[in-house]
Amino acid sequence: MKISERLIQLNNLIRDQFPENEEYLFLFRKLEEGIKDLERQVEIQSLAGAELNRVQEQSTVLEIILDTARELTYADGGTVYMIQVEYYDDPFNPGEIKSKALSFEVLQNETLNIFERSSSTNKISLPPVPLDKAGKPNHSNVSAYCANTGWIVNIPDVYDAEGFDFSGTKKYDQTTGYRSQSMLVIPLRDHENQINGVLQLINRKDQTGKVIPFTDQDQAIVQSLSYQAAVSLTTQKLLKEQVELFNAFVQVLAEGLGEKSPYTFAHINRVALLTVSMGKAVDEWAEGMYEDIHFDADQHAELELAGWMHDIGKLTTPEYIVSKSVKLQTLFDRFELVVERFNSKAKDIEIEALQKKILGMENDKGERYFIEVEKEKNEALQELATDVHLLCQSNLGGEFLSKELEEKILKTASITRKEYFQLNTKMVLGERKILGVEASRNGQVGPLISEEEKALLLIQRGTLSPEERLIINAHSDRSWRWLMKLPFPRKMMKLPLYAGAHHETLSGTGYPNQLKAPQLPIQSRIIAIVDVFEALTAKDRPYKEPMPLSKSLQILGFMVKDNLLDAEIIRIFLKSGLYLDYAQQFLNEDQIDEVDIDQWIETYYPKDFKDSLPAYNRIAEAKPLQENP
Ligand SMILES: [Fe+2]
Ligand SMILES: [Fe+2]
Repeated sequence: MKISERLIQLNNLIRDQFPENEEYLFLFRKLEEGIKDLERQVEIQSLAGAELNRVQEQSTVLEIILDTARELTYADGGTVYMIQVEYYDDPFNPGEIKSKALSFEVLQNETLNIFERSSSTNKISLPPVPLDKAGKPNHSNVSAYCANTGWIVNIPDVYDAEGFDFSGTKKYDQTTGYRSQSMLVIPLRDHENQINGVLQLINRKDQTGKVIPFTDQDQAIVQSLSYQAAVSLTTQKLLKEQVELFNAFVQVLAEGLGEKSPYTFAHINRVALLTVSMGKAVDEWAEGMYEDIHFDADQHAELELAGWMHDIGKLTTPEYIVSKSVKLQTLFDRFELVVERFNSKAKDIEIEALQKKILGMENDKGERYFIEVEKEKNEALQELATDVHLLCQSNLGGEFLSKELEEKILKTASITRKEYFQLNTKMVLGERKILGVEASRNGQVGPLISEEEKALLLIQRGTLSPEERLIINAHSDRSWRWLMKLPFPRKMMKLPLYAGAHHETLSGTGYPNQLKAPQLPIQSRIIAIVDVFEALTAKDRPYKEPMPLSKSLQILGFMVKDNLLDAEIIRIFLKSGLYLDYAQQFLNEDQIDEVDIDQWIETYYPKDFKDSLPAYNRIAEAKPLQENP
């Protein structure tokens, strides 16, 4: 039972004994009104407290504050301003303030039926109120004065007020026909007692609707509300700053990687972008196996960050491997050395021919002999030229190595030349160290291409050797481990898995942890598909030609057939038209060829493909528990 109801009971008891006492009845009525008002305030404040606790967006928090303040004080209108600080972009003096102003965040006026609020995409179109004018604190504007001094301002009638410039308010009244009268202006402070905004209420009304001045009690109530608001605003601000700091940190890391390998940076950018779009497509797709999978705003943000961070482990992958454009590349392309050896072999051939000619002269050989020697030499040089040309081709890498090139490499590897100087080397802690040079007066037999070069040139796909592939593959394990060390907020705790598992496959043949389908969340599957599709279609890779759209989708199809990628996500990717939007934005025109979506689904979508998502992907979209009534 409420206190006011108990009071009425008490009154009924006492009134029987003093039925005619006017003074008693008057006092009792006042007491009853006061208590009812207090009960109303408590109810409004506790409702506001519960709401403030629930919302996260700053504009909603501010709107609740103004709604509540107006309800508590019977104010007709009000404004919430927040202090916006602009800093100089000076690396030698970071954090130096350039200007401070009060921006309009929420604007309400019951009589004029105005209810506006600024959001990240839509700002209230009124110019901010500067906190400084000509290098001095702005004290002429009442809200700026309150923000600068921290004083509460309570004005019975702004038209009679002295010391403040209300010309703007009066002009506004003229255009709207409104009459601004009483005003209460209160600073909003944060947890460090710093003023970060101002709450301005206008035209307090009494029970008859007449405008009256704000009372001391109004002032006290609004002040107490402002303390409650400060907690909400501070929490919300800290959370926002935490997210902004983290996002900026991720950007800096990605840019750091970009300085090492510009195309990797471009890859990360495109993967993040397509991951976001793919997340939206899956979320919005209202048919098929994943029709009930939905992501909330936090999950979309988490997925985007995972896209940004998926290859972060490449930061420490050696640069020559990340951007390896030809098979013989280390810090430079070793094909130069091969060409030098071919040059020396050509000289061997020349010398051999000259020696034969000298012998011929000494033995008085006829003209025919010399023609034959010259012919032999030219043929040998021609063959050498053909060999080096084909080796140059095989150094480039590609989708596969032809049999012809493979045979040529093996044949060339058996050719020898004379070496007058040979390196004396030894392996020390896994590294080849040069100990000295051995000289030979008559020359020793040496290979035209070394065993290591032969193995590299024989790489069947791409430019990476198995050892280099292991090194580059380690990036996903590193991404995963590094991300696990970051104390993500509860809502983002799965991010390391989403990012780290982008090279895992549904069949369990991926890396680094050979996870299988039931362990792979839909988010990891999305990034895995985006990662492959971006890599296939990219037009800026140093080691391969841009691939046509149809061929890229065909390869995705093969990967679906091999149970590596999620068929349903690719179906949504195709059916939603997202693949084409992406292609039109990022592919060369000649890459965008005809693709038959239905034919793709008919050919590659496995008839027995089943939803194998981990349980939490399903729980995420389950209805929240009913709130306590
Ligand atoms: Fe990767
Ligand atoms: Fe990647």
